[in-house]
Amino acid sequence: IRRTKISDLLRRDDFGATVSAKGWVRTRRGNKFVSFIHLNDGSTINNIQVVADNELFNEEVLKKITTGACIHVVGTLVASQGQGQNCEIQAKEIEIYGIADPEEYPLQKQKNGPSLEYLREIAHLRPRTNTFGAILRMRHHMAFAIHKYFNDNGFYYLHTPIITASDAEGAGSMFQATTLDFNNTPRTETGAVDYSQDFFGRQTNLTVSGQLEGELGAMALGAIYTFGPTFRAENSNTPRHLAEFWMIEPEVAFYDINDNMDLAEDFLQYLIKYALENCKDDIAFLADKYDKELIDRLNFITNNKFIRLTYTEGVKILEESKHKFEFPVYWGADLQSEHERYLVEQHFKCPVILTDYPKEIKSFYMKQNEDGKTVRGMDVLFPKIGEIIGGSEREADYDKLTNRIKEIGMNADPIWWYLETRKFGTAPHAGFGLGFERLMLFVTGMTNIRDVIPFPRTPNNAEF
Ligand code: 4AD
Ligand code: MG
Repeated sequence: IRRTKISDLLRRDDFGATVSAKGWVRTRRGNKFVSFIHLNDGSTINNIQVVADNELFNEEVLKKITTGACIHVVGTLVASQGQGQNCEIQAKEIEIYGIADPEEYPLQKQKNGPSLEYLREIAHLRPRTNTFGAILRMRHHMAFAIHKYFNDNGFYYLHTPIITASDAEGAGSMFQATTLDFNNTPRTETGAVDYSQDFFGRQTNLTVSGQLEGELGAMALGAIYTFGPTFRAENSNTPRHLAEFWMIEPEVAFYDINDNMDLAEDFLQYLIKYALENCKDDIAFLADKYDKELIDRLNFITNNKFIRLTYTEGVKILEESKHKFEFPVYWGADLQSEHERYLVEQHFKCPVILTDYPKEIKSFYMKQNEDGKTVRGMDVLFPKIGEIIGGSEREADYDKLTNRIKEIGMNADPIWWYLETRKFGTAPHAGFGLGFERLMLFVTGMTNIRDVIPFPRTPNNAEF
């Protein structure tokens, strides 16, 4: 007989059928006569209970059924006596695929489970926990929903490069891409690797954003999106920053900033609704364990329009508030997450889209307003998160764009190809970037970004 996934078994009521299940043992309890084994195969947060009559099995086999071991069970599907699941398996045969020595296996059953901090140290095993099973399944569903949303709305998935010679954000916090073919790598006079000549003689880095290439796509295909890993060499140890994170960047020809805001709002509401409808069990588990308000918060987002206001209006509210901020707030300041969260959580009690930021604190490519001081940037601010999306209408005018590049002393050489979009058939266009892990923080209710990506890359985590 063929193996059935536990998610499918738990929906069945054809009691008496012989079934086969395979998975990892979460716990084994029992007494002299009977063992209760909770088995999980990753297909659902829920375990199936396997009941084994100890008499039927060799003591050597039973001894090996410990937390973390992998087993194959053949047995009869029976109605469950206890509460919780409607069915369980009365075991007839048990095969041990792999033991997990209790003396060594770090994920022993304990009250409330191991701490999230500890699990970060054993990132190679944490997918085996209920928490990470739930998070990783949700990551998959969210990634799928993103592709579905764009596909259903006529956007094309554009694959932008990871190795590039340009700094898309003009922020200069990049990782270099180096060749490590030591036999052929350029050397300095002292014999050291010459990192200035790394990518086959060209200085390159890992991309911070696919936007610039995304704009090339939008100027040909109309509406595109990217979805890939991006890299920032910011040595910041915050619960919301990773050195390697995934970003989703739609870019649309003929969109202005208002169209862009409409898209961002509709997209986020769609994704959160998708999570609520398709990840019910995992969300319920995470809500119960970590964040009792999670489901209410998710529902609130899907049911309420986001507040839109300018940076200038936002700063005025912050200045007039009696709140004590750690960082000073004044017109021209780059808002910190404490400011963003104040607007969202205390003042409006609603997601906020801030627009028209001072040009000095935003990237070179944003469309300049008539006032000469602000640009058509937009940040979407969420409760618990702060900035979840950053985007803008782009400066479509060749002269204005190149003047701005000169003004800030940026080197235009590496982006000559980008500037040609403004030279040949330029058009108004806009786009934004959604940080995938910030979205995952929001939908899972987790509070540290290291806990919503399988293998976090931060200054302290790079081994596996
Ligand atoms: O605001 P950012 O830097 O914007 C861009 O990169 C633009 N090129 C996007 C565009 O217009 N196409 O980054 C966009 C989003 C942020 O709002 C945040 O959600 C996320 O990416 N983000 C990070 N997430 C995790 N770790 C980091 N170090 C992040 N930096 C940005
Ligand atoms: Mg930003």
